[in-house]
Amino acid sequence: MTDLLLLPGDGIGPEVTAQARRVAEALTPDLTIEERAFGGISYDRHGTPLTEETLGAARGARAVLMGAVGGPQWAGAPRNLRPEAGLLALRAGMGVFANLRPALCFQPLADASSLKRELVEGLDFMIVRELTGGIYFGEPRFIEELPGGGRRAVDTQVYTTAEIERVARVAFELARGRRNKVTSAEKSNVMESGLLWREVVTDLHAREFADVTLEHILADNAAMQIVKAPKQFDVLVTDNLFGDILSDAAAQLTGSLGMLPSAALGAPGAPGLYEPIHGSAPDIAGKGVANPLAAILSFEMALRWSLDRTEAADRLFAAVTSALEAGARTPDLGGTLSTTQMGDAVLAAL
Ligand code: IPM
Ligand code: MG
Repeated sequence: MTDLLLLPGDGIGPEVTAQARRVAEALTPDLTIEERAFGGISYDRHGTPLTEETLGAARGARAVLMGAVGGPQWAGAPRNLRPEAGLLALRAGMGVFANLRPALCFQPLADASSLKRELVEGLDFMIVRELTGGIYFGEPRFIEELPGGGRRAVDTQVYTTAEIERVARVAFELARGRRNKVTSAEKSNVMESGLLWREVVTDLHAREFADVTLEHILADNAAMQIVKAPKQFDVLVTDNLFGDILSDAAAQLTGSLGMLPSAALGAPGAPGLYEPIHGSAPDIAGKGVANPLAAILSFEMALRWSLDRTEAADRLFAAVTSALEAGARTPDLGGTLSTTQMGDAVLAAL
């Protein structure tokens, strides 16, 4: 069984995952690593962003580390074959319904945020984004021509009790190992799915997690609170679309989108999908200046959540922190290091 399947993908994906691979080979040389084409590059080679073989390999690995997918080259590809569609198919095919997106401000980067230092210094909260349901996958979805001219587009936001409960459970369990607080964000004031979300989270809390503090917040207010007083959050659980939006906002608190990893988890024991939160960044792709830390930290999460290597994960986290303390900075953090040099800095600290 492959321990780690690498899906470098498109744009800066191959550059940043190459550094994660170097780190993996140095830190955990006994892990077996396999690499496959995924995203736009797979579409070019095989006519689909996610082949059956690649999905099979992902399901059969212990952890999957993805770089990034997409780029302007594929803007004209059929919608269901675009790189982003491949990513959604991978998430759904792996059944990874709980997406952990840490908003963590590394001490040496407290001044790199666009927010005031006192708001972000010591910041450490976790967004738990539902990842395989909601409006990203809901049916029906289509654009139709209207008889009288013009068109009509439909997306469907849909959630079941079971879908809400399983992701909320992940959030509550996580909170128990942290500061014991869950904030659940939805739009129960206007959406039926938001109302059900609130009810299901409330019931589960009463039944199984009464020891955890639970707060409900409307998603728009959550967006405001994230930039106003982000340290109030410990675990923030929300649906697929709100989680997509709120996690980008949270990322900026930490200085750079180039810093943030994520872990997508499914059933216990099933492989996790690890990916940097940033995209393929076509504007800087191929220039060797992308920050590899989000990819390296995604590997760190894989060590922790799928590969059962907590000690190696701790070492890697400490190495990233000390590389930053020593002043290692790629251009997104105001520095001049190349992608490879940042990889070097982490390896040196290890
Ligand atoms: C993310 C990304 C993806 C999403 C895109 C690339 C499909 O924005 O992982 O946050 O919307 O989920
Ligand atoms: Mg996003």
